[in-house]
Amino acid sequence: MPANENTILFKVAYQGRITEVHTYPNQYYSLMTLISDQLAIPGFGLCCGMGSCGTCLVQISNGYHHVTRNVLACDVQVNDELANALVTISGVF
Ligand code: FES
Repeated sequence: MPANENTILFKVAYQGRITEVHTYPNQYYSLMTLISDQLAIPGFGLCCGMGSCGTCLVQISNGYHHVTRNVLACDVQVNDELANALVTISGVF
């Protein structure tokens, strides 16, 4: 995907591997759908965004504010708030 001013760049860490993600605002319904599409982790997001399974739990670290928060990826919109963040998937599936 070519980068432009609307491109959102962030990183996703899973099992010691870091994947750099390039996307656009609202290209995906949620961070869960993006991770499911781009990383294809078996067992991740089992309830397809219903907020009931907890398998999409991630940690989002924003380097600028030095804040880490635990969130359900199905509750996170893909927008500028993810820019330059590190999303860590710590679940074992
Ligand atoms: S996909 Fe089940 S809680 Fe998010």
